[in-house]
Amino acid sequence: MSQLEVESHRPDRSVPGAGPTVHHIAVQTADLANSVAWYRDFLGCRETWSLERFSDETRRRLPGIRRLTEVVSDGFRLHLFERDGLAAAPIDGGPSVQHLCLSTASAEELRRWRRRWLDLFASGRYRFALPDRPTRIDTDDRGVQSFYALDVNGLELEFTYVPGGG
Ligand SMILES: [Fe+2]
Repeated sequence: MSQLEVESHRPDRSVPGAGPTVHHIAVQTADLANSVAWYRDFLGCRETWSLERFSDETRRRLPGIRRLTEVVSDGFRLHLFERDGLAAAPIDGGPSVQHLCLSTASAEELRRWRRRWLDLFASGRYRFALPDRPTRIDTDDRGVQSFYALDVNGLELEFTYVPGGG
């Protein structure tokens, strides 16, 4: 789908599908091995996969990203990732949660959420802390589609469609 097709549309006021569900919480760390060990030992999380190569989009959003490991428990999953230049201890209580990911039931719903973001932004009814528009929708090697968009405070939200729900 071209950028033009994504951007030009009539406003759709309905909420796409039944509403998104939380897919994972992303936590950035200065010491990945330490974090993985702690989540394993404290909450009983187990490692599912790791990545050391990242897309251009990921490296643009998260300069200095080195490695990402997913750990899961029965009720949730975390994406723990290490970046160059992060302080070992948060300064001024700075956040270590980097984004919130919501999963959709279909690729079409994913597109509708992105259009909805653009509609609300264009309405002028909200004050956005940052001017960034949503990223384009990327598809990875496993066919997982996602885009990123900021909330009004600047918190990054990821929307993802995972074929088969995995
Ligand atoms: Fe993510």
